[in-house]
Amino acid sequence: MSVHILAIESSCDETSAAVLTDGKVLSNIIANQTVHEQYGGVVPELASRAHQENIVPVVDMALKKAGVDRSELSAIAFTQSPGLIGSLLVGSCFAKAMALALNIPLIAVHHMQAHVLANFIADPKPSFPFLCLTVSGGHTQIVRCDSPLSMQVIGETLDDAAGEAFDKSAKLLGLPYPGGPLIDKYAKEGNAARFKFPEPQIPGLNFSFSGLKTAILYFLQEHQQKDPGFVQANLADICASVQERIVSILLHKLVKASRETGIQQIAIAGGVSANSGLRNALQQYGEKHGWQTYIPKFEYCTDNAAMIVMTAWYKYLAGDFAGLEAGVSARAGF
Ligand code: KG4
Ligand code: ZN
Repeated sequence: MSVHILAIESSCDETSAAVLTDGKVLSNIIANQTVHEQYGGVVPELASRAHQENIVPVVDMALKKAGVDRSELSAIAFTQSPGLIGSLLVGSCFAKAMALALNIPLIAVHHMQAHVLANFIADPKPSFPFLCLTVSGGHTQIVRCDSPLSMQVIGETLDDAAGEAFDKSAKLLGLPYPGGPLIDKYAKEGNAARFKFPEPQIPGLNFSFSGLKTAILYFLQEHQQKDPGFVQANLADICASVQERIVSILLHKLVKASRETGIQQIAIAGGVSANSGLRNALQQYGEKHGWQTYIPKFEYCTDNAAMIVMTAWYKYLAGDFAGLEAGVSARAGF
């Protein structure tokens, strides 16, 4: 008999549902919340309300697209942590209610572990052990993966995440939220060698991005004082130079991690792995250092339930189920 799993992702501002049958993802529906744009960032209360409105139609669409009836489901998965508490509660309560009504098991999934396992949705898949650079709006980690459910964070940011570095830089440039994809877009037309931003010297495999934000702020203040039209006239070159620095900070630590662990299977994951500069750089570094590199498809980089259902599949196989009393948590720890 086939195993069908439904998963729900609601950790931040995307409401998503996905269905998997026997290890294969059959649907992945994502409803983006545009309500936050006008506020320059995600407003938690509005995110929870939008999840409540979206969750029923999104789940219905995911089941319909997969051709699976809810009576056939073998288990229901939800994102347990980390994320916005109100947002996580909408997804977890919905999943619990459905699991209770259908009398099937629940599976609780860690959002960052799921970002890593997005690399297993489609071929080619990394083999174990591999390193994954997980870069999102809230996290920047180098994760050592020894099996689908055995992961260890060996480096992480001490302050801002890489996605925040993109978004905050974009804000300083007057671009709307989330600015990361816009920096990526303008960078394509720009000269990355035009401006040099500093690379922080952080020991070990950890990262820091707060100094870069300050450096950009001073750089812009200085130039704008002399020429108020500076940003407007040089937007593409500034974006390309900022992106180049964020990407080089990430890649330099990845080189160090690969040297220290001797692992040459290298993957990336998380929203920032949608960045074309990072994707290209990973390939170039891979060729130079003899790595085998893995990058999830574009739609599996930013938040999605396909990665949650993929993780749920491995947990299902391991018999790792959650009780109805399972809580949610804003914090990261694996
Ligand atoms: O993983 P994700 O969708 O949500 C979190 O779990 O945080 O990541 C969102 C982050 C945002 O900071 C967004 O600006 C960034 O990923 N992002 C990008 C790109 N696409 C998304 N940053 C740079 N270039 C992109 N193309
Ligand atoms: Zn995420």
